[in-house]
Amino acid sequence: MNDSNEQELPPPHIPVMLKESMDLLNLKEGKTYVDATAGAGGHLLSIAHGAGSTSTVYGIDRDIDALGRLRGLVPDNVKLIHSNYSRMKEELATLNIHTIDGGILADLGVSSMQLDEPHRGFSFMNDGPLDMRMDQSRGMTAEELLNSLSENELADIIFRYGEERFGRQIARAIVRQRPIKTTRQLSDLVASTLRKFQKQKGRGEKGGFSKHPATRTFQAIRIALNEELQSLEKFLEDAVSLLAPGARLVVITFHSLEDRLVKQFLRSESTSCVCPPRQPLCTCNKKSQLLIITRKPVVATGEEVLANVRSRSAKLRAGEKLV
Ligand SMILES: C[S@@+](CC[C@H](N)C(=O)[O-])C[C@H]1O[C@@H](n2cnc3c(N)ncnc32)[C@H](O)[C@@H]1O
Repeated sequence: MNDSNEQELPPPHIPVMLKESMDLLNLKEGKTYVDATAGAGGHLLSIAHGAGSTSTVYGIDRDIDALGRLRGLVPDNVKLIHSNYSRMKEELATLNIHTIDGGILADLGVSSMQLDEPHRGFSFMNDGPLDMRMDQSRGMTAEELLNSLSENELADIIFRYGEERFGRQIARAIVRQRPIKTTRQLSDLVASTLRKFQKQKGRGEKGGFSKHPATRTFQAIRIALNEELQSLEKFLEDAVSLLAPGARLVVITFHSLEDRLVKQFLRSESTSCVCPPRQPLCTCNKKSQLLIITRKPVVATGEEVLANVRSRSAKLRAGEKLV
């Protein structure tokens, strides 16, 4: 029989597309790897295990709690770094590491632990303070952001990062009901606003929400607050410059904004010469840096989606450094 404490524990973070990502990393002994999103360590430990004790694995995370949980769990050849992955190159340089000859992995977004802990403020499923910072040691909270930005700024964030077409109406409702202090207050406000405007547009709740109505707004605020897309852009640039020829970059995304960015980046880095097609001679001298290994994004199998609903929206893309 399970004891009652055990029953209360939320499910642990299940690493998404673990086998597929390890296969694409093409793990080899004696090489150096980076897991830029260490989280609960699922991928990190798998890299350390697969590449063996002669390899070195750097595990980066912005979240101090995640790294705290990992310390003591990881073998000696894993080094943990508390930082934003946008600073990966600088952090590695301080350790005198300028090249990664194995591979770099990023499994983007939030972990199950972050979502499950009400005080982190990431989830509309729990009531808690509106924090939403991935790095709890710095930066403004979602509460500060929501209560200080103008209606236009909020509308822009919700529309751009949540792809929420009722962004303007939600922003107006937020400004009217300020101060907004809790995740429940925000999710109720978004749900009632959407219900009202979707009804006006002739879409009742029945045909309405396939996801929780606050999903897109929470995603938007989290992305803006944590500057996720800016960090991802810098990370991708630096990853390519760090990789040695033959080393791999593997990225798992969870929404279309991230996936589009990764897809376009891989495409651009795999292209040589961007001169106009009619120009007889190349003057741009651009060389392709990467070979795309995943022509189409790899997605989770039906079996994995059944076992772990988080994997439903995941897309995995990978490239190999050429020069
Ligand atoms: C989906 S989880 C990773 C889970 C991990 N692969 C595992 O198997 O346990 C994403 C992690 O990335 C971290 N993260 C998100 N953005 C980050 C950034 N810009 N820099 C560093 N870590 C980041 C989050 O704090 C979170 O712990």
